[in-house]
Amino acid sequence: MTIGVVVVGAGFWATQMHLPALARIPGVKITGVVATSRESAEKAAAPYGARAYTDPDEAVQDADVVDVVAPPDVHLPAVKTAARHGKHAICIKPLARSLDEADEMLAAVEAAGTRLFYAENVPFIPAVQEAKKAVDAGRIGEVFRVKACEGIGRPHSDWFFDPVRSGGGAMLDMAVHSLEFCRFFANAPITSVYADADTYVWGDRTSAEDTALLTVRFGNGVLGQCEDSWSLAGAMDSRFEVFGTEGRILIDNLHRQPLQVVGATGWSFPLPIPGLLADGHLDMLTHFTNCIRTGEPSVSEGRVGRDVLAVVDAATRSLASGRRENVHHQSEGQSS
Ligand SMILES: NC(=O)c1ccc[n+]([C@@H]2O[C@H](COP(=O)([O-])OP(=O)(O)OC[C@H]3O[C@@H](n4cnc5c(N)ncnc54)[C@H](O)[C@@H]3O)[C@@H](O)[C@H]2O)c1
Repeated sequence: MTIGVVVVGAGFWATQMHLPALARIPGVKITGVVATSRESAEKAAAPYGARAYTDPDEAVQDADVVDVVAPPDVHLPAVKTAARHGKHAICIKPLARSLDEADEMLAAVEAAGTRLFYAENVPFIPAVQEAKKAVDAGRIGEVFRVKACEGIGRPHSDWFFDPVRSGGGAMLDMAVHSLEFCRFFANAPITSVYADADTYVWGDRTSAEDTALLTVRFGNGVLGQCEDSWSLAGAMDSRFEVFGTEGRILIDNLHRQPLQVVGATGWSFPLPIPGLLADGHLDMLTHFTNCIRTGEPSVSEGRVGRDVLAVVDAATRSLASGRRENVHHQSEGQSS
């Protein structure tokens, strides 16, 4: 069965990551690309022999799945369009601009009987996958602390600076990656968060924070720390750590040797990954399309994106109150 995918968005992430990855997956056909201008849709679609659209309702007709890789203000309407036409959706991080929007998305998909996948690549990064295997094999003992740093110098498009379009600053745009890393290794939901954040570098461009520090507690007692920014001079940062009672793992995803594990027998460097940045997008999109083909559950259903937004929501409350805030994982009306 060939799965037809229409990509909504023709910018950096669609053209550099999702479209090239989708083109490499056997049994997947890119049917079209939707953008605000026909010209950019055509430019993005041409290498794949796909059609160019500006109208999502028209674009979804001959697709099975809508892959949303556009700014966050487009996520909810695009997922609702997919659901209205009975099509599945993949939605890039952050799932939405707010928890309310995320709940509306999940409700639309549930009512339509379609599926929503949350496109967060961090758990699919090969070094992260290898680290997870090392943890699951008991190589660092019991995990008690997790830490993630995601930083860039500045967002590459103007819409990031406009909270109406983006939904927020670094605490949303970058921390969703860090929080998902921490959750993946803590293996429990985050129950509370303390946030501190401010705007140090881009105050002339945005009211949103460009620098955020979060400390989180997981339901099983694990402690987490996230350091996320749009204010990092010089280069990008993408580093993750897992601390166990008998060892420690460091993943520096931009390093040629991204994974370092120390355990009872000393340091080891299990995988030299070719290339500078092995980002996990191919594995992630392969997983989603396999789930659609087989009906298997996904490790990154839309619900995962909603749970991360619940933490960002609590972090926003924490910034306002100056106190640690509890995370509301259930939407109103849901029973536990
Ligand atoms: N690691 C990651 O997973 C990662 C990294 C970067 C960006 N992203 C996410 O990808 C999404 C897109 O970011 P980007 O970097 O490609 O932005 P970008 O500014 O480079 O491109 C945005 C694209 O969206 C299109 N667009 C805007 N409004 C649209 C609409 N109404 N309908 C259809 N297309 C529309 C524009 O035409 C443009 O092609 C964002 O949600 C961002 O957070 C994810």
